[in-house]
Amino acid sequence: MSTSKTKNKYKIAVIPGDGIGKEVMDATITVLNNLDIDLDYIYGEAGDGCLEKTGDALPKETIDIVRNSDACLFGAAGETAADVIVKLRQEMKMFANLRPVKSYPNTNSLSDDIDFMIVRENTEGLYIADKEELTQEGAIAKRVITREAEERIIDYAFKYAKDNGKSKVTGVHKANVLKKSDGLFKEIFYEVGERYPDIEKEDFYVDATAMYLITQPQNFEVIVTTNLFGDILSDEGAGLVGGLGLIPSANIGNDGALFEPVHGSAPDIAGKGIANPIAMILSAVMMLRYLNENESADKLDNAIIKLLSDGKVLTGDLGGNATTEDVANEIIKLL
Ligand code: NAI
Ligand code: MG
Repeated sequence: MSTSKTKNKYKIAVIPGDGIGKEVMDATITVLNNLDIDLDYIYGEAGDGCLEKTGDALPKETIDIVRNSDACLFGAAGETAADVIVKLRQEMKMFANLRPVKSYPNTNSLSDDIDFMIVRENTEGLYIADKEELTQEGAIAKRVITREAEERIIDYAFKYAKDNGKSKVTGVHKANVLKKSDGLFKEIFYEVGERYPDIEKEDFYVDATAMYLITQPQNFEVIVTTNLFGDILSDEGAGLVGGLGLIPSANIGNDGALFEPVHGSAPDIAGKGIANPIAMILSAVMMLRYLNENESADKLDNAIIKLLSDGKVLTGDLGGNATTEDVANEIIKLL
């Protein structure tokens, strides 16, 4: 048991967004209010509704709220997602995208002992809009790999492993074909790895990794990879452990961090009060860990595990018929 210390007070930017973003955010804030932790919420508007109302999907005031916060909770945007969440990641220079892949009880997980973290580079690779151009023959996309950004993300992954009791980091690339760009990634991976003598290093090609994730997911603890590969592998990871209603994520930079479920605004179920709030609540667990409030994070995580093990209060995506509010109230009971 850790000793109690003076409570820190945190400024949390809250951007519910559109559709079920609002519903899962309400549930999450209700749950957070039942923890012994001092959070000051500052609400910001963004998304389709905000565009309609103000003519701007991501007003400057909202960016400022995020900039002046200790951390941000984001629900989901609708059709404006690219103008909202992608822009926010860029504005805040959030270079690391973290997606935990973990099996929880009573879900569609391929096996019950999957637990790894995908650390995805968030700023370069193939995802730089102005590096893509139409040519007479068709189109060309350039892939940008800089020493600075790759060193930063690889170091982040090793540090994450060290701080979280993980024993191995896997670097994922395609250096046999992309000899220069991924050749450099692989070189930097082992260079940075030398700073972490206690952590085991291995590297795989991305295509082989796609298979190993299915055949031996237990082999992985922390995966670090470039932007596109991380995007694809993390959706494969979501598929491994049972779907969008359960998958949280974090975007981390030197000056800020934003926590969001991987899912979108789900217009097909929005307004019915039946969205699964667990992905959003697990995003809040990631936020609490980022703020070093590990005791509260563990408490909340354990309540979610208990809820899923009991299997009595589950939303439709997990085979139950509970509402978003029922799930929030049950988690509060289990805290
Ligand atoms: P989606 O994630 O909103 O929905 C996909 C499917 O999963 C739907 O059938 C939905 O009902 C279900 N689903 C998603 N989250 C759920 C939850 N918490 N509980 C129960 N069921 C859930 O993705 P889709 O349909 O491709 O996009 C809908 C809108 O969301 C689009 O306008 C898109 O641009 C936006 N979007 C926004 C994102 C963001 O803000 N980060 C990410 C992905 C999509
Ligand atoms: Mg994706």
